[in-house]
Amino acid sequence: MAVFQVVKVGENILRDKAMEIKKINSNIHKLLDNMAETMYAAKGVGLAAPQIGVSKRAVVLDAGDGLIELINPVIIEKSGKVVDREGCLSIPNVTGDVERAKRVVVEALDRNGVLKRYEAEDLLARIFQHEIDHLDGILFIDIAQKIYKDE
Ligand code: CO
Repeated sequence: MAVFQVVKVGENILRDKAMEIKKINSNIHKLLDNMAETMYAAKGVGLAAPQIGVSKRAVVLDAGDGLIELINPVIIEKSGKVVDREGCLSIPNVTGDVERAKRVVVEALDRNGVLKRYEAEDLLARIFQHEIDHLDGILFIDIAQKIYKDE
């Protein structure tokens, strides 16, 4: 495993639509391991593969209840709306007020290729939505109602 430099806003890879993962092999396992290690080293709560320079549809997240790994995640249900402050490891010293669904249901493959379903609310739902946006080249600054910059 290795800690990677997190790709920062301005790099094209953050704006690309990431590729679906067709085959889950040792390279994908290594990718997930590197993503988790990089996320924890950066004290983040979520990380998408493009943020370590890999344009594939993989996400790791941990809202404090343990590591969740998502391959080819899809939001299949959304309900409610809530505005809250969020940030991104790729956009240092900036936060923003972003409206997200309050509750989401997400389906994704796990590292064994098993389709899993996750129901999430509030912070966890926000992280799912933020990270899945990364796979489509969307950053929170694109959709924030208000942006705050640290001096
Ligand atoms: Co982010």
